[in-house]
Amino acid sequence: MFEHINTAMTGSKSPQITTPPSSGNRLIKIVWRMLEFGWVYRLFRAFAADDSFTNHLIEDWYRVEPSTRVLDLGCGTGDTLQLLPTFASYEGHDINPDYIRLCRERFGERGNFIQTDLSSDQFGAAGQFDLALLVGVLHHLDDEACLHLLRNARRALRPGGRLVTLDGVFHSGQRPLSRFVVSLDRGRHVRREENYLALVGQIFPKIRHEVCEGRIRIPYSHILIEAVCDDAPAI
Ligand SMILES: C[S@@+](CC[C@H](N)C(=O)[O-])C[C@H]1O[C@@H](n2cnc3c(N)ncnc32)[C@H](O)[C@@H]1O
Repeated sequence: MFEHINTAMTGSKSPQITTPPSSGNRLIKIVWRMLEFGWVYRLFRAFAADDSFTNHLIEDWYRVEPSTRVLDLGCGTGDTLQLLPTFASYEGHDINPDYIRLCRERFGERGNFIQTDLSSDQFGAAGQFDLALLVGVLHHLDDEACLHLLRNARRALRPGGRLVTLDGVFHSGQRPLSRFVVSLDRGRHVRREENYLALVGQIFPKIRHEVCEGRIRIPYSHILIEAVCDDAPAI
């Protein structure tokens, strides 16, 4: 089930980056800016979410038990925490102070919420976590920042711990409307399927993945990747 990835696959330093069409440029930038407010982001997320996809994530990918120690990297407004069993321990990091403030207001002592720039800062105690989540984060960062983040995520995981990532993706056979909507994402580093695999595969040699088309209420394509932390030292 797990794939061994040839890291030479991508060869690309610069990911597939798209620019919004110039006619809609200003409007798109206003939407991106609005989404920086925690309450706007929460409304958008609630609108776009689909129960069957959410269940797929929880049951087949996150697989959190009450004893699981979760490190949520780019935790946003904490919506993933709401889906987890009450007793799972949880630490969330995000760069946006408004999102972190909202997480603290919503969840209080239920989790530990820390403002962190994941592209450059250290985070998470070494070897302490069973599961690291990167939900909607890699496509916000360039390759160098992603590698820094992935190395740190690996350091924070116990041997046998897992990383799960979820991002917008370009892939062959994609519906044109999905491709267009993905190209408007405020994350400016949406990549092709093979580029995500090569990137994560540089730090975690054992991975499996799935590309999902049209699983939320707007036309969109996602890539899910699960990586297992083996005992070998991080690269
Ligand atoms: C698409 S949102 C996903 C949020 C959350 N994981 C969710 O599922 O709702 C991407 C998140 O990554 C965060 N982010 C982007 N760049 C970051 C960075 N350099 N350091 C920390 N967080 C970052 C954003 O603030 C935002 O909360």
